[in-house]
Amino acid sequence: MEFTDFSSDISTLEADCLIVPVADKSDTLVPISGVDEIKTFLAEADSNHLLDKKHGKLSFLLAPDNCKARWLLAIGCGDKPLSAAKYRALCDSVAPALKARKVRSAVHLLPRLAVESRSDSWKARQAVLGMGYGDYRYTTTRSAKSSKTTLEKVLLPQISAKDISEAAAMARGVATARELGNLPPNLLNPETLAERATQIAETYASASVEILDVAAMEELGMGALLAVGKGSEIPPRLIVLRHNGGENGGENGGKKDAAPVALVGKGITFDTGGISLKPGAAMDEMKFDMCGAAGVIGAFVACCEMNLPLNVITVVPAVENMPDGKSYRPGDVVTTMSGKTVEVLNTDAEGRLILCDALTYTQKFEPRLMVDAATLTGACVVALGRHASAVMSKDDELAQMLIDAGDESFDRVWRLPLWDEYQSQLDTNFADFSNLGGSPAGAITAGCFLARFCDGVRWAHLDVAGSAWLQGAKKGATGRPAAVLAQFLINQSNEQ
Ligand code: BES
Ligand code: MN
Ligand code: ZN
Repeated sequence: MEFTDFSSDISTLEADCLIVPVADKSDTLVPISGVDEIKTFLAEADSNHLLDKKHGKLSFLLAPDNCKARWLLAIGCGDKPLSAAKYRALCDSVAPALKARKVRSAVHLLPRLAVESRSDSWKARQAVLGMGYGDYRYTTTRSAKSSKTTLEKVLLPQISAKDISEAAAMARGVATARELGNLPPNLLNPETLAERATQIAETYASASVEILDVAAMEELGMGALLAVGKGSEIPPRLIVLRHNGGENGGENGGKKDAAPVALVGKGITFDTGGISLKPGAAMDEMKFDMCGAAGVIGAFVACCEMNLPLNVITVVPAVENMPDGKSYRPGDVVTTMSGKTVEVLNTDAEGRLILCDALTYTQKFEPRLMVDAATLTGACVVALGRHASAVMSKDDELAQMLIDAGDESFDRVWRLPLWDEYQSQLDTNFADFSNLGGSPAGAITAGCFLARFCDGVRWAHLDVAGSAWLQGAKKGATGRPAAVLAQFLINQSNEQ
C-alpha cells in the first residue's frame, strides 16, 4: 500500500473511492470544508435514507457523476470533535470495508475531522497506521487466502513525506509483530523465531543478526534462561539483532560508535507454566507469550525501514516453557548470568527468569537506554485491563519518554511504581531472592525482580500482558508495543 499527499480539488482526483466523514445532524452533515459538490449529494442520499449516520457506521454509495471516483464511503463520526481513541477507531475501520469491495485506490478525508487536542500531522499519521492495522488479516494457516490486499494507493490531504514514511514504517512494524504473535506455537518456536529474525536481518542493509545457541549461553552462565528451556524438545536461542544507523547520522549528528538504544523482548513461544502447570482454559492464548519479542522485533523492523540515524540492539530470549522429566522444578535454585542466585518458587513465573539473563547480557553492549517488553504477569491485566500497557522505571525521565511516545503513537502506556519497598516480597531463605512475589502487586514485584539486574543502566520495563492480544471474536495479536517502541526510537534519533 502506497500513501501520497494531495492538495487539489477532490472531485478531480483519480481514485476508486472517496472516504468522507458524515455527522449525524443533517445541518452539518459533512463536517469538513472543501467538498461542496459532495455535500449536496450526501444530503440527498440522507433524505433517501441511504446513509447510516450513527457513529462508526459505514455506508457505501455510488459516487456522484461530477466525481472521478466510483464509490463513496460515508463514515458516521458524531457531532463533536472526536476523542483521539474514537478517531483512531474510525481510521481502523476503513481498510476492511474497502477490501470487501476490492477497492484499489482511495482518497481518505478522515484527517480533515476535528480531533480533541491533536495536530494535523498526528491525524494523518494515525490514518496511515489505521489503514495498516485494518489491512492486516491473519491468513497464513487458513485455506482461504482471499483477503489478500487489494489496496494499492491511498491519498491523504496535506501529509508530509516524513509523516508518510515514518507512519508507514511503523505500520509495517506493527504488522510484523502481529503476524509473529498470531503464528501457532507448533510453527513458531525458538528455532523458527530465530530463522525469522535472520530473514529480517537479511532484508535490511543496516541490519545484522547473531543467534546464540545453548552452548554459547552455557558459556555465558545463563543459568536462569537455560533452566526454563530444559523441558522443551526445542532448545532455547538468544536472538541478537543490530541496526547500525549511527554512521548515517547526518544532521542528527549520529556517530558510528554511538552507544546503542537496547530493546529486549520476552520470547516464550509457548507458556504451559511448566511443572507449575497452568489450567487448561484458554491455554492456547499462551502462544502470545512471545508478544514482547514480537513487539521489539516489530519496532526493529520499523527502525530499519526508516533507516534511523541511531544504533539499536534488539535482544530476544526465545524459549518454550514445557513440563517434562527434564524440566526445572519449584524449589530449584538457579545461578543467573549476573552471579545472583534465584529460588524458583513457581515455574510459571518464567518470563522474569529468561529476561534477567537477557538483560544482563544486553548490558555488555553498554546501551545508553534499555527497554524491555514482556507479557509478564496476569496481575498487569487485572491492574490495567487491555487498553494500557504498564511502564515501570526508576528513571522518571525515561518513563515519561515512553508515556509520551505511547500517546503520540496511540499505543498507550501507564506508569506503575517500582519502589524498593516492594522488593522484600521476593525474600527467601534459600537463595539471594525468589522468582515469586505473592499476590499483592504482582506486576510490580515482577518489575522489581528485573530491576535487580539493571543497576547502573537507564532501564524501563513494559508489561504488555493485557495489551498484546485481543480475546473473543477478534482474538489475535495487536502488535503492541511495536508502535510505541518505534515512536520512542524516532524520538531518540531526533534528540541525539
Ligand atoms: N505469561 C504469563 C503471564 C500472563 C498470564 C499474561 C495471563 C497474560 C495472561 C506469565 O509467564 C505467568 O504465568 N505469570 C504468572 C506469574 C505468577 C506465577 C507469579 C501469573 O501472572 O500468574
Ligand atoms: Mn508463565
Ligand atoms: Zn509467560
